[in-house]
Amino acid sequence: MFKNLIHIQLILFVILFNSVAQAQNKVSVDEIKNKMEWFADAKLGIFIHYGIYSVNGIDESWSFYNKKIGYKDYMKQLNGFTASKYNPKDWADLIKESGAKYAVMTTKHHDGVALWNSKYGSLNVAKKTPAKTDLLKPFYEALRERGIKVGAYFSLIDWSNANYPGFLKDSSKYQMKKEPVRWEKYLTFMNGQLDEIARQYNPDLWWFDGDWEHSAEEWNSPEIRKKLLTYNHNAIINGRLQGYGDYDTPEQNFPVSRPGYKWWELCMTINDNWGFQPQDKNFKTSYQIISIFTDVVSYGGNLLLDIGPKADGTLPEEEVNVLKELGAWNKKNGEGIFNTLAGLPQGHYYGASTISKDSTAVYLFVPAKTSAPVLLKGLKNKIKTITILGSNIPVAYKIVGKISWSSVPGLLYIDIPEIQQDKYMSVIKIEVEGKLDLYRGKGGFLTN
Ligand code: GLC
Repeated sequence: MFKNLIHIQLILFVILFNSVAQAQNKVSVDEIKNKMEWFADAKLGIFIHYGIYSVNGIDESWSFYNKKIGYKDYMKQLNGFTASKYNPKDWADLIKESGAKYAVMTTKHHDGVALWNSKYGSLNVAKKTPAKTDLLKPFYEALRERGIKVGAYFSLIDWSNANYPGFLKDSSKYQMKKEPVRWEKYLTFMNGQLDEIARQYNPDLWWFDGDWEHSAEEWNSPEIRKKLLTYNHNAIINGRLQGYGDYDTPEQNFPVSRPGYKWWELCMTINDNWGFQPQDKNFKTSYQIISIFTDVVSYGGNLLLDIGPKADGTLPEEEVNVLKELGAWNKKNGEGIFNTLAGLPQGHYYGASTISKDSTAVYLFVPAKTSAPVLLKGLKNKIKTITILGSNIPVAYKIVGKISWSSVPGLLYIDIPEIQQDKYMSVIKIEVEGKLDLYRGKGGFLTN
């Protein structure tokens, strides 16, 4: 009996495991390898949540959905959305300065307010707010002029649309199964908007959101993917299309083990909210942002760091400050970040690291004010030189515990003089002879 139970459990586990694996394989890695190259090299993107929710400074869309504010009052914010000091060139300059290689703007959040002059419905900033204009076009142009890739966040959910079933947390407009034609109408509307964005702005990256409200079949995810790739076969699609995206998108929470897809991106706010909220002063420090960023890159991912502009289009000064500090750090240390590969496997170094694409250099990230020597284990190569980025003076190191008759490498201790340390995070560059060769054994007596 007991044995049978275990057997059944095992079969269930295998079925479950296979279906997860199949879901992940809907988009094959080979199909997308080439187009993902710029994304894998980019490491840093800036996320922008710009919308009418910045007028009152409340949660984007969720505030009415969760009944913190009535829907009518939420929509009154349309009248205060002026974008009067909106200067997309300044935004693009700041993004460039931060070192980011792409930017993702909310073209439409779950509240259904489009940031371009859509001909599908009239709920957009050009028709319904004092901003009176398409906010996407000048921003996307400014990005492209500066060589920054263009990303379009698009909410599949549209809680304002009459033909979208969902509305408030405890009530919906209709039941899809009872009114399939109405759902079809919504899909026509939604696809119309996607066509507009594709034709008018040709995004390099689509950042879908809200897929959790319906299945891939209901959204018709394969068709959406096919269509967008017909417009631009190099377009990258994030992993929120019910299994039909190209990369994983953990949100706010730092993954402790590497996400399942080959490519991934952590989206994260600088304070605690996506959009502008004046009372939220819980800003992460520049050090925290830099350490999160280096950790993400060490794990082979990208950081999509969010900013929330005010209704007039200006940016909170704390966010500007963080982006500038990050930019200055990237300028000095970017060699260890951009165009690198994920870092050393666990066990070699207690901290973030990256490896150069040609495998001849390892970069170790060391938090400021470290007085003890840095330790690296298991490096088989001979060392050419060790420097700290931002200075060309070689630093001292010592290999200890190397036994002459054993192939197991010794422990490498590196000194980083205080005067050469970065105020946030120093980057040690270890150049090696030949291609990086790591010892992964258990410290065995003779051979391994
Ligand atoms: C969540 C939220 C949304 C936010 C997004 C950013 O999905 O629904 O408000 O825009 O995360 O990742």
